[in-house]
Amino acid sequence: GAPVEVNISKVEPGQLIRVEWRGKPVWVVRRTEEVLQQLPENDDQLRDPDSVEMQQPEYAKNPGRSIKPEFFIAVGICTHLGCSPTYLPDSFGEQVEGVTSGFFCPCHGSKFDMAGRVFQGVPAPLNLVIPPHQYVDDGTVLIG
Ligand code: FES
Repeated sequence: GAPVEVNISKVEPGQLIRVEWRGKPVWVVRRTEEVLQQLPENDDQLRDPDSVEMQQPEYAKNPGRSIKPEFFIAVGICTHLGCSPTYLPDSFGEQVEGVTSGFFCPCHGSKFDMAGRVFQGVPAPLNLVIPPHQYVDDGTVLIG
C-alpha cells in the first residue's frame, strides 16, 4: 500500500486521531506533558518496557516509542487476537491504579500504556506495533 500523509497540525494535547494504512487503523495521539512524565513510572508493571521485541522500527526503540515524544503513532490493533483497544485519556486508572491514560482492549482485557507497551498479567503478548513513519515537516507525518 501507498504511504499515508497525515496532517497533525490541529491535533490537540490528549487527542487521538485515526487514519487507515494498509487497511489497518493507525492512531496518532498527541501526548500531554503529564502523560510523558508518567511514562517511566509504568516500567516495572510492563512486559517489555524497553521494547526489546521488534514491534517498532529501530528509530522508535526509545522510552516513548516515537520520533517526537509529543506524538505517539501506533497500529491500533491488539497484539492478542486483533481487536482495537479503546483509548481512555482520563479513566485508565480504573484499569491500572495510578495511571491516568492508556488503552484498554474490550475483548479480553489487555492493557497498554501511552507508549503502547503492554502491561503484565493480560493476554496480549507484545507491545503495540509502531508503523514505519517520518516527518515531512512539523505539521505532517508520512505513515508507511
Ligand atoms: Fe485484545 Fe484479546 S484481542 S485482549
